[in-house]
Amino acid sequence: MQSLFCELLRNTPAVLGVQKLEFRWPGLSPRGGQFFMLRPERTSRFLGRPISVAGWDSSSVAFLVAVRGRGTAELAALQPGEKAELIGPLGNTWRDMYPIHQNIALVGGGIGIAPLLAFATELIPQTFDFYAGFKTGSFGLEGLKARSLILASDDGSVGICGRIPDVLESVLESAKYRGVYACGPHIMLKTVANACKEYAIPCFVSLERRMACGVGACLGCTVKTVRGNRRCCADGPIFKAEEVIFDVWH
Ligand SMILES: Cc1cc2nc3c(=O)[nH]c(=O)nc-3n(C[C@H](O)[C@H](O)[C@H](O)COP(=O)(O)OP(=O)(O)OC[C@H]3O[C@@H](n4cnc5c(N)ncnc54)[C@H](O)[C@@H]3O)c2cc1C
Ligand code: FES
Repeated sequence: MQSLFCELLRNTPAVLGVQKLEFRWPGLSPRGGQFFMLRPERTSRFLGRPISVAGWDSSSVAFLVAVRGRGTAELAALQPGEKAELIGPLGNTWRDMYPIHQNIALVGGGIGIAPLLAFATELIPQTFDFYAGFKTGSFGLEGLKARSLILASDDGSVGICGRIPDVLESVLESAKYRGVYACGPHIMLKTVANACKEYAIPCFVSLERRMACGVGACLGCTVKTVRGNRRCCADGPIFKAEEVIFDVWH
C-alpha cells in the first residue's frame, strides 16, 4: 500500500453521472478487485472515498466514478493536471479467492462492473462470460474482451429487458459455470448468491460499505459473516458468498 499525490491525466464522461478518471500512478501495480481511497488535493471532505480499480497499465490507474454525494461529485469534477491523494492498492483480489478460472461468469450491476472490468484484463477471454446489468443504457464496456457479453437493462434500452441476476439464473444449470464473481447492489448480490447456492456453484461477491480509514484500523466497515464480523476494507472487499449474511441491511 502506498499514499501518493497523483496527477489526473484524463477525465472523460462514461454516461450521465459516471466519469472515467485516469491518474498517473507510479506506485505498486494493483490487481483486479482491489480499490484505492481517493481524495482530491483540494476538497471539502475530510476522508477519501473507496473506488475500485477499473483498469491500469505500467504508469497509470483508471477508475469509474458514479456521483452519489459530495465526495464523488468532487472527484468527478477534477480537471486534468489537478491532483488527488491515492492510497492503495487496498483489499483482496478476485484471483486470490479461487484458483479455477475456466468457464466462469463475471456479473456486474451498474457501477459494480468496475472491479470486474479489471479482473477481465487478467483472464483469457475464451474462459469467461461477462454479464452486465444497468438501469438504462450501458457504459465502461468498450475495451472488454470476453467469450460473450450478456447485457440487460431495466428499461430495455440495451440488451435484454430485465434484471441481470434473473438472466444469469435462467442459464446457470446449462452453462455449468465453475465459478461466479459478482459486484453490484446488495439485492443483486443476494439473488446471485442464492442462485449459485442452488446449483452448488462457488460464488464470490465484492461488497460495498462506507469506509473511513480503508486500511482495517477503524472497524467502521463491518460485514456480518457466518464466521463473525469482518472488515470490508481489510478482509474484503471480496467474500465467499456462502459466508456473507445478506439479510442484515446496511
Ligand atoms: C470497496 C469499494 C469499492 C467501490 N468502488 C466504487 C467505484 O468503482 N465507483 C464508484 O462510483 N463507487 C464505488 N464505491 C462506492 C463509493 O465509495 C461511494 O459512492 C462513495 O464513498 C460515496 O461518497 P460521497 O461523498 O459521494 O457520498 P456521501 O455523501 O457520503 O453518500 C451519498 C449516499 O451514498 C451512500 N454511500 C456512501 N458511501 C457508501 C458506500 N461505501 N457504500 C454504499 N453506500 C454508500 C450514503 O449512504 C448516501 O446515501 C465503492 C465502495 C467500496 C466500499
Ligand atoms: S474502513 Fe476502517 S476498518 Fe475498514
